[in-house]
Amino acid sequence: MAMIKRPFVIGNWKMNLTLVRGIEFAKLLKDSLHGKDGIMCGVCPPFIFLKEICKILEDSNVCVAAQNIHSEKYGAYTGEVSALMIKEVGCTHVLIGHSERRHIFHEDDSFINAKIKTALSVNLKPIFCVGEMLDEREAGRTKDVIRNQLVRGLRDVRADQLKEIVIAYEPVWAIGTGKTALPEQADEVHSFIRNTITNEYDKNLAKSIYILYGGSVKPENAKELTDQSEIDGLLVGGASILFESFLKIIEVVSKG
Ligand code: PGA
Repeated sequence: MAMIKRPFVIGNWKMNLTLVRGIEFAKLLKDSLHGKDGIMCGVCPPFIFLKEICKILEDSNVCVAAQNIHSEKYGAYTGEVSALMIKEVGCTHVLIGHSERRHIFHEDDSFINAKIKTALSVNLKPIFCVGEMLDEREAGRTKDVIRNQLVRGLRDVRADQLKEIVIAYEPVWAIGTGKTALPEQADEVHSFIRNTITNEYDKNLAKSIYILYGGSVKPENAKELTDQSEIDGLLVGGASILFESFLKIIEVVSKG
């Protein structure tokens, strides 16, 4: 990881925890990170918890991200939640293009691109997820898949807007499977992502942008992943649900 960057560790609770446990978690996290500036940290609670969790974390160094938004700012979209709404309750970030959204809910690159642009238009920072499936990796298509997801997802996003985006590389075969990418394997794709950003935008921007790794991150492998030169932080799913394991991950990757 580049020396100047503080690691960014964000926990995606997915459709887990209860409001009571989420509140308890947020309070513990706020207290544990008080005064610690060697790390940036965040959580992605379910929509219905966001208001409460944002309230607890508003004067803390822990940011709150929603797990999803719709691409429209308002309108007749029964069951959906807009960027404006999550911004209003205090979120600063939003996950966009998570593999579970892509594969279970069939979200395509153009929908993801529309969501990214909407998030940016209301000053929400997208955490833009990309990643290949196992058959794509085995067919030697990882780089093509990642390049397409990046280029299509970022269509019409300007350089000054890209600065606000965090990219997360999450190989689909490593999510929730216990199979982590080898640190060197992940680093190679991170480096490819940075090169793609260099080609599409410029080198300094590519250097400064945060690229997180996600996929079966746990306390035991967190450090070796963030020790890689191109890995700026972690997007943690399963191991972010238990406060103790999430805190352990934060501790092992923290820079002081
Ligand atoms: P996992 O999930 O850590 O449980 O593999 C990661 C993610 O989906 O972001």
